[in-house]
Amino acid sequence: SSYDAIILGAGAAGMFCAATAGQRGRRVLLLDHSPEPGRKILISGGGRCNFTNIHTAPDRFLSQNPHFAKSALSRYGPRDFLALVEAHGIAWHEKTLGQLFCDRSAKQIVQLLRDECAKGSVDLMCGQPVADVAHADGRFRVRFGDAAFSAPALVIATGGPSIPKLGATGFAYDLARRFGLKVVQPRPALVPLTLGGPEALFATLSGVSAEVVASCGKTAFREAALFTHRGLSGPAILQISSYWERGREVGINFLPDLTEGWLREAKRRNPRASLRSALSAHLPDRLAETLAERLGLPGDLGNLADKALTGAEQRLWRWAFHPDGSEGFAKAEVTAGGVSTAGLSSKTMEAKRVPGLYVVGEAVDVTGWLGGYNFQWAWASGWAAAQSI
Ligand code: FDA
Repeated sequence: SSYDAIILGAGAAGMFCAATAGQRGRRVLLLDHSPEPGRKILISGGGRCNFTNIHTAPDRFLSQNPHFAKSALSRYGPRDFLALVEAHGIAWHEKTLGQLFCDRSAKQIVQLLRDECAKGSVDLMCGQPVADVAHADGRFRVRFGDAAFSAPALVIATGGPSIPKLGATGFAYDLARRFGLKVVQPRPALVPLTLGGPEALFATLSGVSAEVVASCGKTAFREAALFTHRGLSGPAILQISSYWERGREVGINFLPDLTEGWLREAKRRNPRASLRSALSAHLPDRLAETLAERLGLPGDLGNLADKALTGAEQRLWRWAFHPDGSEGFAKAEVTAGGVSTAGLSSKTMEAKRVPGLYVVGEAVDVTGWLGGYNFQWAWASGWAAAQSI
């Protein structure tokens, strides 16, 4: 029942940390309350796991301390994990924007982690609640079901509360607080946004998508946006949701490739065309129809004043949406916020005031963009802690 390290949470960060520490000769116990390890990995990337992003850089992560992730990300980068993927003979491809996916299945990444854990002689136990965690005389004692274990190092790798039906909990925050660590208010991120009031009418566009630039303040993402029956989704919206706060507006540029004067030019070329048909040349029909209706400029372009067309262009470049909320932790791909980095070493992930206590992965207040960044943080932070255990 005595180990060098006990790791709570057999997700991406916990498994990788356990494997790495085990292969460094540490006796590691990895515990999870779910019946099997790596459940989020299995459903990630549409079942193909977007396991890293080759453009990983610290500015693609949100945190109260934007510098915190630098050290771990620079010491264990996307090429390191890719080398491991290749060593396991897993075929992969780059989909878009540096996102690397398995050709076949996310199951291969879970198997990779299981094999690496086995190589490090990690004891993996699943399917029981972690009943109690105590700390005395430099040792952490953990009750898991009916059994009790102890070690001089404890790694909190239980992630954040997004997607509770997969066993996600806020356990990391409760435990961290008990050890005196602060928690930055957790919030759903990479999550669809909901529209209410007059904007709820956009629900009629459910299923329509278009490439847009979505922005919030100074942050902008050019990717697809998707209208849903509840509001807005798609990669551009998921990305911007991590930066959005209640009360702020989200700007959508529906026509990022068109330059000033394009509508006046359309009027000159075809004065008998309607605004709707001019928009249909660049946008899906249903979206063109709805936007034209809302712009409220009926009739032929030829009968519309240039000033009105310029106004319409401006609006289409920055259509202001006012989300009334998000679809919450039930639908959020990650949790932003979490255990404050202020109390952790950026080199080792160890709590500055509690020697032997580590926090890794999504539980920490470091949140990546969509596109493999969150797994890269899980690998890098897990690796950093494993070097110190
Ligand atoms: P993770 O959530 O993986 O693991 C935490 C573990 O702790 C779980 O096994 C859980 O059962 C366990 N646990 C929780 N509470 C516990 C308790 N009280 N006691 C014991 N155990 C407990 N990222 C990316 O980079 N590329 C992608 O393709 C995707 N795709 C994706 C799809 C979907 C649908 C979701 C929900 C998320 C993604 N992500 C992603 C995000 C990615 O899955 C996430 O960032 C990592 O899994 C975080 O790894 P962690 O190990 O920190 O937590």
